Amino acid sequence: MKQITDTLSSLVLKAGEIMLKAHDIESGDHMSEKAGDAANLVTVYDVAVQNFLITEITKAIPEAYFIAEEKENDADVLNRKYCFVIDPIDGTANFTHDYKHSCISLALFSYGEVVFAAVYDPYQKELFTARKGEGAFVNGRPIHTANRDTAHSIVSFGTSPYYKDTLGEKSFRLCYKLFRTCSDIRRCGAAALDLAYLAAGRNDVFFEALLSPWDIAAGYLLITEAGGIMTDMNGNKIDFSAPSPVFAATPAVYDELIGIVKEIMQ
Ligand code: IPD
Ligand code: CA
Ligand code: CA
Repeated sequence: MKQITDTLSSLVLKAGEIMLKAHDIESGDHMSEKAGDAANLVTVYDVAVQNFLITEITKAIPEAYFIAEEKENDADVLNRKYCFVIDPIDGTANFTHDYKHSCISLALFSYGEVVFAAVYDPYQKELFTARKGEGAFVNGRPIHTANRDTAHSIVSFGTSPYYKDTLGEKSFRLCYKLFRTCSDIRRCGAAALDLAYLAAGRNDVFFEALLSPWDIAAGYLLITEAGGIMTDMNGNKIDFSAPSPVFAATPAVYDELIGIVKEIMQ
């Protein structure tokens, strides 16, 4: 397993080079809108990172299956021995606006359980990894969730930009309630990094009303291995075979805040 995860980490680092080499991205020439939604973008770089990872992982593990954002998927393959769940660029809108806050998110499932996670931010050169039962790390250093109380907590959230009509109003109501309860709010634009930051003790809470498996699978293992809690918005286990609401927090504030989340999001 160690050999496989070392190979995966080095492939993710190489894939980061593709993001860093992107040029002229703000011109829009390399970009298209998915399903006619101006907020839902894909660039040639998303596709290039995804193709690179699928090709190289298949060379290393020929029996690997893939669930990845920029292709058609079949959720049944999550239960195979090796199934990789990949978001080639998480934070594509940040990427196209040159925010330099986007990442690659890769999770390895084995028989339905996440066993390895890698989230790589090529701009900060930070590689967050976790192996089931062995902890979470940034660039090889162990990370742990924070222990601040609610009043001192930073809440990071996602706006569910592809579901504005159905989830926008509730998301902002919850945001306001948590803003009043906690210290402050962040909306950074890359869910996988929000989750990695929670694992690293940089923020305390994360929520988003609907995210896809590739946004959250790696973050889930990072957070749980770093001592945090991540569930859906009813406090139930997340089902990675379909899009899911997400509420993640440190143990110091989870119990106090999940009640607010349930009340507003029901
Ligand atoms: C998006 C980002 C964003 C979140 C969206 C995601 P993408 O991923 O993670 O922060 O709010 O819900 O879809 O589309 O850039 O891969
Ligand atoms: Ca994403
Ligand atoms: Ca993406």
